[in-house]
Amino acid sequence: MDNRTEVIPASPLPPVAGSRFFITTAIDYTNGAPHIGHAYEKVLADVLARYHRLKGEEVFFLTGVDQHGQKVQQSAEKQGVAPGEFVAGITEKFVALWEKLEVCYDAWAATTDVQHTECVQKILSRLNAEGQIYKDKRGGYYSVRQEQFLTDKERNESGEFGPEWGEVEFREEENYYFRLAAHRDWLLKLIDQRSAAGRPLVMPEFRVAELRNAVAKMEGDLCISRPKARLAWGIEFPFDPDFVTYVWFDALVNYISFAPGYDPAAGADLTEFNHWWPALHVIGKDIMIPAHGVYWPIMLKALGFADEAIPPLLVHGWWNIGGAKMSKSLGNSIDPDALANQYGAETLRYYLMSDITTGRDSDFSEERLVQCYNTDLANSVGNLLNRSLNMAAKYREGVVRHGEGEIRRRGEEICARMVTEYTAAMDRFEPHAALVAAGKLATWCNALVEETAPWKLAKDPDQAEKLDAVLFTLAESLRVLALLLSPVLPRAATGIFSQLNWNKPFRLEDAKWGGLPDGHQLGKPTPLFPRLETPEVGNP
Ligand code: MSP
Repeated sequence: MDNRTEVIPASPLPPVAGSRFFITTAIDYTNGAPHIGHAYEKVLADVLARYHRLKGEEVFFLTGVDQHGQKVQQSAEKQGVAPGEFVAGITEKFVALWEKLEVCYDAWAATTDVQHTECVQKILSRLNAEGQIYKDKRGGYYSVRQEQFLTDKERNESGEFGPEWGEVEFREEENYYFRLAAHRDWLLKLIDQRSAAGRPLVMPEFRVAELRNAVAKMEGDLCISRPKARLAWGIEFPFDPDFVTYVWFDALVNYISFAPGYDPAAGADLTEFNHWWPALHVIGKDIMIPAHGVYWPIMLKALGFADEAIPPLLVHGWWNIGGAKMSKSLGNSIDPDALANQYGAETLRYYLMSDITTGRDSDFSEERLVQCYNTDLANSVGNLLNRSLNMAAKYREGVVRHGEGEIRRRGEEICARMVTEYTAAMDRFEPHAALVAAGKLATWCNALVEETAPWKLAKDPDQAEKLDAVLFTLAESLRVLALLLSPVLPRAATGIFSQLNWNKPFRLEDAKWGGLPDGHQLGKPTPLFPRLETPEVGNP
Protein backbone atom coordinates (compact mmCIF):
# COMPACT_ATOMS: atom_id res chain seq x y z
CA MET A 1 0.00 0.00 0.00
CA ASP A 2 1.22 3.49 -0.73
CA ASN A 3 1.04 5.38 2.53
CA ARG A 4 0.90 8.69 0.70
CA THR A 5 -2.56 8.26 -0.73
CA GLU A 6 -4.36 9.64 2.31
CA VAL A 7 -5.48 13.21 1.69
CA ILE A 8 -5.02 15.53 4.60
CA PRO A 9 -6.31 19.10 4.66
CA ALA A 10 -3.64 21.78 4.50
CA SER A 11 -2.84 23.46 7.79
CA PRO A 12 -2.45 27.21 7.90
CA LEU A 13 1.01 28.68 7.64
CA PRO A 14 3.07 28.51 10.82
CA PRO A 15 3.76 31.52 12.98
CA VAL A 16 7.30 32.20 11.78
CA ALA A 17 8.19 35.61 13.14
CA GLY A 18 10.90 37.45 11.26
CA SER A 19 13.66 35.25 10.02
CA ARG A 20 14.45 33.08 12.99
CA PHE A 21 13.35 29.51 13.51
CA PHE A 22 13.69 27.70 16.84
CA ILE A 23 12.78 24.04 16.62
CA THR A 24 12.86 21.34 19.30
CA THR A 25 12.06 17.63 19.47
CA ALA A 26 10.89 15.43 22.31
CA ILE A 27 13.85 14.22 24.32
CA ASP A 28 14.09 10.43 24.19
CA TYR A 29 14.06 8.19 27.24
CA THR A 30 17.43 6.59 27.77
CA ASN A 31 16.10 3.26 28.98
CA GLY A 32 16.77 1.49 25.70
CA ALA A 33 18.41 1.87 22.30
CA PRO A 34 16.85 4.25 19.75
CA HIS A 35 14.19 2.84 17.42
CA ILE A 36 12.74 3.98 14.12
CA GLY A 37 10.15 6.25 15.81
CA HIS A 38 12.90 8.22 17.50
CA ALA A 39 14.79 8.43 14.22
CA TYR A 40 11.71 9.66 12.35
CA GLU A 41 11.07 12.53 14.72
CA LYS A 42 14.67 13.71 14.75
CA VAL A 43 15.02 13.48 10.97
CA LEU A 44 11.72 15.37 10.56
CA ALA A 45 12.97 18.20 12.78
CA ASP A 46 16.36 18.14 11.05
CA VAL A 47 14.74 18.43 7.62
CA LEU A 48 12.61 21.38 8.76
CA ALA A 49 15.68 23.01 10.34
CA ARG A 50 17.69 22.51 7.14
CA TYR A 51 14.84 23.89 5.05
CA HIS A 52 14.73 27.05 7.17
CA ARG A 53 18.53 27.39 6.90
CA LEU A 54 18.11 27.01 3.14
CA LYS A 55 15.68 29.94 3.28
CA GLY A 56 18.45 31.96 4.90
CA GLU A 57 16.82 32.09 8.33
CA GLU A 58 18.66 31.98 11.63
CA VAL A 59 17.97 28.50 12.98
CA PHE A 60 18.33 26.96 16.41
CA PHE A 61 17.63 23.24 16.60
CA LEU A 62 17.49 21.61 20.03
CA THR A 63 17.21 17.89 20.70
CA GLY A 64 18.45 15.53 23.37
CA VAL A 65 17.73 12.80 25.87
CA ASP A 66 15.50 12.38 28.90
CA GLN A 67 17.81 10.67 31.36
CA HIS A 68 15.99 10.54 34.70
CA GLY A 69 13.07 8.54 36.03
CA GLN A 70 11.76 5.25 37.22
CA LYS A 71 12.22 3.30 33.98
CA VAL A 72 15.88 4.24 33.75
CA GLN A 73 16.45 3.45 37.40
CA GLN A 74 14.84 0.02 36.93
CA SER A 75 16.71 -0.77 33.69
CA ALA A 76 20.02 0.17 35.33
CA GLU A 77 19.20 -1.98 38.38
CA LYS A 78 18.46 -4.96 36.12
CA GLN A 79 21.90 -4.62 34.58
CA GLY A 80 23.51 -4.06 37.94
CA VAL A 81 25.03 -0.71 37.05
CA ALA A 82 24.63 2.76 38.50
CA PRO A 83 21.94 4.80 36.70
CA GLY A 84 24.49 7.45 35.66
CA GLU A 85 26.66 4.85 33.99
CA PHE A 86 23.69 3.15 32.36
CA VAL A 87 22.40 6.43 30.97
CA ALA A 88 25.81 7.43 29.61
CA GLY A 89 25.98 4.21 27.58
CA ILE A 90 22.52 4.63 26.03
CA THR A 91 23.08 8.35 25.43
CA GLU A 92 26.15 7.47 23.36
CA LYS A 93 23.97 5.33 21.10
CA PHE A 94 21.62 8.23 20.44
CA VAL A 95 24.47 10.64 19.77
CA ALA A 96 26.14 8.17 17.38
CA LEU A 97 22.88 7.55 15.54
CA TRP A 98 22.22 11.26 15.02
CA GLU A 99 25.71 11.64 13.69
CA LYS A 100 25.20 8.78 11.28
CA LEU A 101 21.83 10.12 10.14
CA GLU A 102 23.24 13.65 9.84
CA VAL A 103 20.79 15.08 12.32
CA CYS A 104 22.51 18.40 12.73
CA TYR A 105 21.44 20.08 15.98
CA ASP A 106 22.69 23.28 17.60
CA ALA A 107 22.32 22.22 21.23
CA TRP A 108 22.09 18.91 23.03
CA ALA A 109 19.66 18.64 25.93
CA ALA A 110 20.82 15.94 28.34
CA THR A 111 18.80 16.25 31.52
CA THR A 112 21.59 15.22 33.88
CA ASP A 113 23.61 18.31 32.83
CA VAL A 114 24.08 20.87 35.62
CA GLN A 115 22.84 23.60 33.30
CA HIS A 116 19.50 21.80 33.30
CA THR A 117 19.32 20.54 36.89
CA GLU A 118 20.09 24.02 38.22
CA CYS A 119 17.46 25.58 36.00
CA VAL A 120 14.84 23.05 37.15
CA GLN A 121 15.75 23.73 40.78
CA LYS A 122 15.52 27.49 40.35
CA ILE A 123 12.13 27.10 38.70
CA LEU A 124 10.88 24.90 41.54
CA SER A 125 12.14 27.38 44.14
CA ARG A 126 10.54 30.28 42.36
CA LEU A 127 7.17 28.59 41.88
CA ASN A 128 7.27 27.43 45.49
CA ALA A 129 8.02 30.94 46.73
CA GLU A 130 5.16 32.27 44.61
CA GLY A 131 2.73 29.74 46.03
CA GLN A 132 2.22 27.83 42.77
CA ILE A 133 3.50 24.64 44.36
CA TYR A 134 2.22 23.12 47.62
CA LYS A 135 2.83 20.02 49.70
CA ASP A 136 -0.05 17.69 50.45
CA LYS A 137 -0.65 14.25 51.91
CA ARG A 138 -2.86 12.03 49.78
CA GLY A 139 -3.82 8.39 50.01
CA GLY A 140 -4.21 5.74 47.34
CA TYR A 141 -3.72 2.13 46.40
CA TYR A 142 -0.07 1.25 45.93
CA SER A 143 1.45 -1.74 44.14
CA VAL A 144 4.49 -2.83 46.10
CA ARG A 145 5.79 -4.94 43.23
CA GLN A 146 5.50 -2.19 40.59
CA GLU A 147 6.34 0.57 43.07
CA GLN A 148 3.56 2.83 41.89
CA PHE A 149 0.21 4.22 42.95
CA LEU A 150 -2.73 2.76 41.05
CA THR A 151 -5.76 4.55 39.73
CA ASP A 152 -9.15 3.23 38.65
CA LYS A 153 -7.72 2.81 35.16
CA GLU A 154 -5.62 -0.06 36.48
CA ARG A 155 -8.67 -2.00 37.73
CA ASN A 156 -9.79 -4.99 35.65
CA GLU A 157 -13.35 -5.72 34.45
CA SER A 158 -14.38 -6.98 37.86
CA GLY A 159 -13.14 -3.79 39.47
CA GLU A 160 -10.09 -5.41 41.07
CA PHE A 161 -6.38 -4.79 40.72
CA GLY A 162 -5.18 -7.92 38.89
CA PRO A 163 -2.40 -10.29 39.98
CA GLU A 164 0.13 -8.45 37.78
CA TRP A 165 0.23 -5.75 40.47
CA GLY A 166 1.24 -8.17 43.25
CA GLU A 167 0.41 -7.01 46.75
CA VAL A 168 -1.69 -3.82 46.68
CA GLU A 169 -1.99 -1.74 49.86
CA PHE A 170 -3.56 1.57 50.83
CA ARG A 171 -0.83 4.11 51.48
CA GLU A 172 -0.63 7.74 52.37
CA GLU A 173 2.17 9.74 50.92
CA GLU A 174 3.27 13.36 51.05
CA ASN A 175 4.12 14.99 47.75
CA TYR A 176 4.42 18.35 46.03
CA TYR A 177 1.63 19.52 43.75
CA PHE A 178 1.60 22.17 41.04
CA ARG A 179 -1.52 24.34 40.74
CA LEU A 180 -2.84 23.22 37.39
CA ALA A 181 -6.61 23.32 37.64
CA ALA A 182 -6.69 27.08 38.26
CA HIS A 183 -5.49 27.68 34.71
CA ARG A 184 -8.04 25.54 32.88
CA ASP A 185 -10.23 28.34 31.56
CA TRP A 186 -7.23 30.41 30.52
CA LEU A 187 -5.93 27.48 28.44
CA LEU A 188 -9.30 26.87 26.80
CA LYS A 189 -9.45 30.51 25.80
CA LEU A 190 -5.91 30.44 24.45
CA ILE A 191 -6.66 27.38 22.31
CA ASP A 192 -9.71 29.11 20.84
CA GLN A 193 -7.93 32.42 20.29
CA ARG A 194 -5.06 30.76 18.45
CA SER A 195 -7.38 28.83 16.20
CA ALA A 196 -9.44 31.92 15.45
CA ALA A 197 -6.25 33.79 14.54
CA GLY A 198 -5.30 31.02 12.09
CA ARG A 199 -2.31 30.01 14.23
CA PRO A 200 -3.52 26.85 15.97
CA LEU A 201 -1.74 25.83 19.15
CA VAL A 202 -1.40 22.33 17.74
CA MET A 203 -0.77 21.27 14.16
CA PRO A 204 -2.06 19.54 12.12
CA GLU A 205 -5.24 21.36 13.04
CA PHE A 206 -7.34 18.21 13.34
CA ARG A 207 -5.68 17.68 16.76
CA VAL A 208 -7.08 20.91 18.21
CA ALA A 209 -10.47 19.42 19.06
CA GLU A 210 -8.80 16.50 20.83
CA LEU A 211 -6.73 18.83 22.97
CA ARG A 212 -9.66 21.12 23.69
CA ASN A 213 -11.79 18.21 24.92
CA ALA A 214 -9.01 17.03 27.20
CA VAL A 215 -8.55 20.48 28.70
CA ALA A 216 -12.29 20.89 29.20
CA LYS A 217 -12.38 17.63 31.19
CA MET A 218 -9.26 18.27 33.20
CA GLU A 219 -9.48 18.39 36.96
CA GLY A 220 -7.10 18.40 39.90
CA ASP A 221 -3.53 19.57 40.31
CA LEU A 222 -0.38 17.85 39.13
CA CYS A 223 1.75 15.75 41.45
CA ILE A 224 5.33 16.75 40.60
CA SER A 225 7.41 14.87 43.15
CA ARG A 226 8.44 11.43 44.29
CA PRO A 227 9.82 10.68 47.74
CA LYS A 228 13.48 9.79 47.34
CA ALA A 229 12.82 6.56 49.19
CA ARG A 230 10.82 5.46 46.11
CA LEU A 231 12.79 7.12 43.33
CA ALA A 232 16.30 8.39 43.82
CA TRP A 233 17.22 8.97 40.15
CA GLY A 234 15.89 12.47 39.64
CA ILE A 235 16.49 16.15 40.36
CA GLU A 236 16.33 16.94 44.03
CA PHE A 237 13.89 19.55 45.33
CA PRO A 238 16.15 22.45 46.37
CA PHE A 239 14.02 23.18 49.43
CA ASP A 240 13.29 19.58 50.43
CA PRO A 241 16.05 17.00 49.88
CA ASP A 242 13.69 14.10 50.63
CA PHE A 243 12.03 14.56 47.23
CA VAL A 244 12.95 14.53 43.54
CA THR A 245 10.93 16.06 40.69
CA TYR A 246 8.98 13.55 38.71
CA VAL A 247 9.06 13.29 34.92
CA TRP A 248 7.46 16.36 33.37
CA PHE A 249 8.80 19.13 35.58
CA ASP A 250 12.19 17.77 34.66
CA ALA A 251 11.81 16.80 30.98
CA LEU A 252 9.66 19.66 29.68
CA VAL A 253 11.94 22.27 31.19
CA ASN A 254 14.67 21.21 28.74
CA TYR A 255 13.02 23.40 26.11
CA ILE A 256 13.98 26.51 28.07
CA SER A 257 16.95 25.35 30.16
CA PHE A 258 18.91 24.63 26.96
CA ALA A 259 17.46 27.53 24.98
CA PRO A 260 19.82 30.43 24.36
CA GLY A 261 19.70 32.95 27.17
CA TYR A 262 16.99 31.65 29.47
CA ASP A 263 17.20 32.59 33.14
CA PRO A 264 14.39 31.54 35.48
CA ALA A 265 14.97 34.35 37.97
CA ALA A 266 11.97 36.68 38.14
CA GLY A 267 12.78 39.91 36.30
CA ALA A 268 15.86 38.48 34.53
CA ASP A 269 17.06 40.01 31.23
CA LEU A 270 15.65 37.68 28.58
CA THR A 271 16.63 39.65 25.49
CA GLU A 272 18.55 36.80 23.88
CA PHE A 273 15.96 34.21 24.85
CA ASN A 274 13.14 36.32 23.47
CA HIS A 275 14.99 36.63 20.18
CA TRP A 276 14.44 32.90 19.67
CA TRP A 277 11.34 32.03 21.64
CA PRO A 278 8.74 30.66 21.04
CA ALA A 279 10.03 27.36 19.70
CA LEU A 280 8.12 24.98 17.50
CA HIS A 281 7.88 21.76 19.50
CA VAL A 282 7.94 18.62 17.33
CA ILE A 283 6.43 15.75 19.32
CA GLY A 284 4.63 12.44 18.82
CA LYS A 285 0.87 12.13 19.28
CA ASP A 286 1.24 10.13 22.51
CA ILE A 287 2.76 13.03 24.43
CA MET A 288 0.44 15.81 23.31
CA ILE A 289 -2.13 15.10 26.05
CA PRO A 290 -1.56 15.92 28.82
CA ALA A 291 2.16 16.74 28.87
CA HIS A 292 2.76 19.17 26.01
CA GLY A 293 -0.77 20.40 25.43
CA VAL A 294 -1.82 20.89 29.06
CA TYR A 295 1.06 20.82 31.58
CA TRP A 296 3.62 22.72 29.52
CA PRO A 297 1.52 25.77 28.55
CA ILE A 298 0.36 26.05 32.16
CA MET A 299 3.91 25.73 33.50
CA LEU A 300 5.00 28.52 31.17
CA LYS A 301 2.03 30.65 32.16
CA ALA A 302 2.97 30.16 35.82
CA LEU A 303 6.51 31.30 34.96
CA GLY A 304 5.13 34.54 33.57
CA PHE A 305 5.20 33.75 29.84
CA ALA A 306 2.81 35.93 27.84
CA ASP A 307 0.03 34.25 25.84
CA GLU A 308 1.89 35.04 22.60
CA ALA A 309 4.92 33.16 23.96
CA ILE A 310 3.10 29.86 24.46
CA PRO A 311 4.76 27.61 21.86
CA PRO A 312 2.91 25.80 19.06
CA LEU A 313 3.13 22.02 18.79
CA LEU A 314 3.73 20.04 15.63
CA VAL A 315 2.31 16.63 16.45
CA HIS A 316 3.42 13.75 14.27
CA GLY A 317 1.93 10.29 13.98
CA TRP A 318 3.48 6.91 14.61
CA TRP A 319 5.28 4.33 12.58
CA ASN A 320 3.58 1.01 13.19
CA ILE A 321 4.48 -2.52 12.26
CA GLY A 322 1.81 -4.34 10.30
CA GLY A 323 -0.79 -1.96 11.71
CA ALA A 324 0.25 -2.69 15.29
CA LYS A 325 2.16 -0.62 17.77
CA MET A 326 5.92 -1.03 17.85
CA SER A 327 7.26 -1.67 21.32
CA LYS A 328 10.21 -3.02 23.19
CA SER A 329 8.08 -5.51 25.05
CA LEU A 330 6.59 -6.91 21.81
CA GLY A 331 10.12 -7.24 20.48
CA ASN A 332 9.15 -5.70 17.12
CA SER A 333 11.26 -2.54 17.37
CA ILE A 334 13.02 -1.53 14.18
CA ASP A 335 16.67 -0.59 14.56
CA PRO A 336 17.50 2.53 12.52
CA ASP A 337 21.23 2.00 12.94
CA ALA A 338 21.12 -1.39 11.21
CA LEU A 339 18.97 0.04 8.40
CA ALA A 340 21.34 2.94 7.84
CA ASN A 341 24.26 0.50 7.71
CA GLN A 342 22.50 -1.71 5.22
CA TYR A 343 20.90 0.84 2.91
CA GLY A 344 22.67 4.11 3.66
CA ALA A 345 21.70 6.96 5.95
CA GLU A 346 20.15 9.06 3.19
CA THR A 347 18.04 6.17 1.92
CA LEU A 348 16.58 5.91 5.40
CA ARG A 349 16.09 9.68 5.66
CA TYR A 350 14.33 9.69 2.31
CA TYR A 351 12.00 6.86 3.25
CA LEU A 352 11.11 8.36 6.64
CA MET A 353 10.25 11.66 5.00
CA SER A 354 8.44 10.38 1.94
CA ASP A 355 6.29 7.51 3.13
CA ILE A 356 4.30 9.21 5.89
CA THR A 357 2.02 12.24 6.00
CA THR A 358 2.93 14.56 8.88
CA GLY A 359 0.43 14.00 11.66
CA ARG A 360 -0.78 10.60 10.43
CA ASP A 361 0.44 7.08 11.13
CA SER A 362 2.20 4.90 8.62
CA ASP A 363 3.31 1.30 8.43
CA PHE A 364 7.01 0.68 8.40
CA SER A 365 8.19 -1.75 5.74
CA GLU A 366 11.70 -2.52 4.60
CA GLU A 367 10.32 -3.43 1.19
CA ARG A 368 8.73 -0.01 0.87
CA LEU A 369 12.01 1.59 1.90
CA VAL A 370 13.79 -0.12 -0.99
CA GLN A 371 10.89 0.54 -3.35
CA CYS A 372 10.74 4.28 -2.55
CA TYR A 373 14.48 4.59 -3.08
CA ASN A 374 14.51 2.63 -6.33
CA THR A 375 11.48 4.37 -7.82
CA ASP A 376 12.09 7.96 -6.77
CA LEU A 377 15.85 8.14 -6.49
CA ALA A 378 17.56 5.40 -8.52
CA ASN A 379 15.11 5.30 -11.45
CA SER A 380 14.07 8.92 -11.53
CA VAL A 381 16.57 11.44 -10.12
CA GLY A 382 19.65 9.21 -10.45
CA ASN A 383 18.81 8.16 -13.97
CA LEU A 384 18.08 11.76 -14.94
CA LEU A 385 21.39 12.99 -13.57
CA ASN A 386 23.36 10.24 -15.22
CA ARG A 387 21.78 10.41 -18.64
CA SER A 388 21.83 14.23 -18.70
CA LEU A 389 25.51 14.44 -17.87
CA ASN A 390 26.43 11.61 -20.19
CA MET A 391 24.60 13.17 -23.11
CA ALA A 392 26.14 16.58 -22.40
CA ALA A 393 29.58 14.95 -22.27
CA LYS A 394 28.99 12.96 -25.44
CA TYR A 395 27.42 15.66 -27.60
CA ARG A 396 28.89 18.88 -26.17
CA GLU A 397 32.00 17.87 -24.18
CA GLY A 398 30.07 18.84 -21.05
CA VAL A 399 29.53 22.49 -22.05
CA VAL A 400 25.90 23.64 -21.83
CA ARG A 401 24.63 26.45 -24.03
CA HIS A 402 21.29 28.24 -23.85
CA GLY A 403 20.09 27.20 -27.31
CA GLU A 404 16.55 27.90 -28.51
CA GLY A 405 14.02 29.56 -26.22
CA GLU A 406 10.87 27.41 -26.24
CA ILE A 407 12.18 24.39 -24.33
CA ARG A 408 13.92 26.58 -21.78
CA ARG A 409 10.68 28.53 -21.25
CA ARG A 410 8.85 25.29 -20.51
CA GLY A 411 11.62 24.31 -18.10
CA GLU A 412 11.41 27.65 -16.36
CA GLU A 413 7.65 27.35 -16.00
CA ILE A 414 7.67 23.86 -14.45
CA CYS A 415 10.55 24.75 -12.14
CA ALA A 416 8.74 27.83 -10.85
CA ARG A 417 5.56 25.81 -10.28
CA MET A 418 7.34 23.00 -8.47
CA VAL A 419 9.35 25.37 -6.28
CA THR A 420 6.11 27.08 -5.25
CA GLU A 421 4.49 23.73 -4.52
CA TYR A 422 7.57 22.62 -2.62
CA THR A 423 7.87 25.70 -0.41
CA ALA A 424 4.14 25.69 0.38
CA ALA A 425 4.44 22.06 1.50
CA MET A 426 7.54 22.66 3.60
CA ASP A 427 5.92 25.73 5.18
CA ARG A 428 3.05 23.43 6.19
CA PHE A 429 5.65 21.04 7.68
CA GLU A 430 4.89 18.39 5.08
CA PRO A 431 8.20 17.13 3.69
CA HIS A 432 6.43 14.20 1.97
CA ALA A 433 4.43 16.64 -0.17
CA ALA A 434 7.56 18.73 -0.82
CA LEU A 435 9.31 15.59 -2.08
CA VAL A 436 6.38 14.89 -4.36
CA ALA A 437 6.91 18.35 -5.94
CA ALA A 438 10.64 17.70 -6.38
CA GLY A 439 9.80 14.30 -7.85
CA LYS A 440 7.44 15.88 -10.39
CA LEU A 441 10.27 18.06 -11.65
CA ALA A 442 12.49 15.00 -12.15
CA THR A 443 9.65 13.16 -13.91
CA TRP A 444 9.06 16.11 -16.22
CA CYS A 445 12.76 16.19 -17.14
CA ASN A 446 12.84 12.47 -17.89
CA ALA A 447 9.75 12.91 -20.05
CA LEU A 448 11.49 15.76 -21.88
CA VAL A 449 14.33 13.40 -22.74
CA GLU A 450 11.87 10.85 -24.14
CA GLU A 451 9.95 13.53 -26.02
CA THR A 452 12.95 15.22 -27.65
CA ALA A 453 15.24 12.16 -28.07
CA PRO A 454 18.55 14.08 -27.88
CA TRP A 455 20.34 11.12 -29.53
CA LYS A 456 18.30 11.82 -32.69
CA LEU A 457 18.78 15.61 -32.44
CA ALA A 458 22.54 15.05 -32.22
CA LYS A 459 22.53 13.49 -35.67
CA ASP A 460 20.93 16.51 -37.33
CA PRO A 461 23.02 19.75 -37.47
CA ASP A 462 19.81 21.80 -37.99
CA GLN A 463 18.65 20.70 -34.53
CA ALA A 464 21.80 21.90 -32.73
CA GLU A 465 19.98 24.79 -31.02
CA LYS A 466 17.21 22.49 -29.85
CA LEU A 467 19.70 19.96 -28.49
CA ASP A 468 21.48 22.76 -26.62
CA ALA A 469 18.20 23.89 -25.09
CA VAL A 470 17.35 20.35 -23.95
CA LEU A 471 20.76 19.79 -22.36
CA PHE A 472 20.69 23.21 -20.71
CA THR A 473 17.17 22.68 -19.39
CA LEU A 474 18.13 19.32 -17.90
CA ALA A 475 21.24 20.71 -16.19
CA GLU A 476 19.42 23.77 -14.88
CA SER A 477 16.51 21.68 -13.59
CA LEU A 478 18.99 19.36 -11.86
CA ARG A 479 20.55 22.36 -10.14
CA VAL A 480 17.12 23.41 -8.83
CA LEU A 481 16.29 19.81 -7.94
CA ALA A 482 19.46 19.51 -5.85
CA LEU A 483 18.43 22.59 -3.87
CA LEU A 484 14.98 21.14 -3.24
CA LEU A 485 16.32 17.75 -2.19
CA SER A 486 19.06 19.18 0.03
CA PRO A 487 17.16 19.29 3.35
CA VAL A 488 16.36 15.57 3.07
CA LEU A 489 19.44 14.41 1.15
CA PRO A 490 22.24 16.83 2.01
CA ARG A 491 24.99 14.52 0.73
CA ALA A 492 23.31 13.54 -2.50
CA ALA A 493 22.47 17.19 -3.19
CA THR A 494 26.13 18.08 -2.72
CA GLY A 495 26.96 15.23 -5.11
CA ILE A 496 24.60 16.64 -7.75
CA PHE A 497 26.10 20.12 -7.37
CA SER A 498 29.58 18.74 -7.72
CA GLN A 499 28.70 16.77 -10.85
CA LEU A 500 27.17 19.94 -12.26
CA ASN A 501 30.46 21.64 -11.35
CA TRP A 502 28.40 24.18 -9.42
CA ASN A 503 30.22 25.15 -6.25
CA LYS A 504 27.77 27.65 -4.85
CA PRO A 505 26.24 27.59 -1.35
CA PHE A 506 22.80 26.02 -0.95
CA ARG A 507 20.21 28.82 -0.88
CA LEU A 508 16.54 28.56 -1.68
CA GLU A 509 16.58 31.95 -3.40
CA ASP A 510 18.78 30.33 -6.06
CA ALA A 511 16.04 27.82 -6.85
CA LYS A 512 14.93 29.91 -9.78
CA TRP A 513 15.65 29.64 -13.45
CA GLY A 514 18.75 31.10 -14.98
CA GLY A 515 21.52 30.18 -12.54
CA LEU A 516 23.80 28.28 -14.93
CA PRO A 517 25.50 30.67 -17.37
CA ASP A 518 25.60 30.10 -21.11
CA GLY A 519 28.72 28.02 -21.81
CA HIS A 520 28.89 26.44 -18.32
CA GLN A 521 31.21 23.44 -18.12
CA LEU A 522 29.61 20.47 -16.34
CA GLY A 523 31.56 17.94 -14.26
CA LYS A 524 31.97 14.21 -14.79
CA PRO A 525 28.98 11.89 -14.48
CA THR A 526 29.19 9.36 -11.61
CA PRO A 527 26.23 7.14 -10.68
CA LEU A 528 24.69 8.64 -7.53
CA PHE A 529 21.81 6.37 -6.58
CA PRO A 530 22.72 2.77 -7.49
CA ARG A 531 19.69 0.50 -7.50
CA LEU A 532 19.06 -1.55 -4.35
CA GLU A 533 17.99 -5.19 -4.33
CA THR A 534 14.56 -5.82 -2.83
CA PRO A 535 15.05 -7.59 0.51
CA GLU A 536 14.34 -11.33 0.38
CA VAL A 537 12.30 -11.28 3.55
CA GLY A 538 10.59 -7.94 3.97
CA ASN A 539 9.16 -6.76 7.23
CA PRO A 540 5.65 -7.93 7.98
N1 MSP B 1 10.94 11.38 27.28
C1 MSP B 1 9.63 11.56 26.78
C2 MSP B 1 9.47 12.89 26.08
C3 MSP B 1 9.86 14.09 26.88
S1 MSP B 1 9.76 15.54 25.91
C4 MSP B 1 9.98 16.78 26.99
C5 MSP B 1 9.28 10.45 25.79
N2 MSP B 1 10.30 9.74 25.31
S2 MSP B 1 10.16 8.53 24.28
O1 MSP B 1 11.50 8.04 24.06
O2 MSP B 1 9.20 7.59 24.74
O3 MSP B 1 9.58 9.11 22.95
C6 MSP B 1 10.27 10.15 22.29
C7 MSP B 1 9.52 10.59 21.04
O4 MSP B 1 9.49 9.51 20.12
C8 MSP B 1 8.06 10.97 21.32
O5 MSP B 1 7.72 12.16 20.63
C9 MSP B 1 7.28 9.82 20.76
O6 MSP B 1 6.02 10.17 20.27
C10 MSP B 1 8.17 9.38 19.62
N3 MSP B 1 7.89 8.01 19.24
C11 MSP B 1 7.98 6.89 20.01
N4 MSP B 1 7.57 5.82 19.27
C12 MSP B 1 7.20 6.22 18.04
C13 MSP B 1 6.80 5.58 16.86
N5 MSP B 1 6.60 4.28 16.79
N6 MSP B 1 6.64 6.34 15.74
C14 MSP B 1 6.89 7.69 15.74
N7 MSP B 1 7.28 8.32 16.84
C15 MSP B 1 7.31 7.65 18.03
O7 MSP B 1 8.12 10.29 25.49
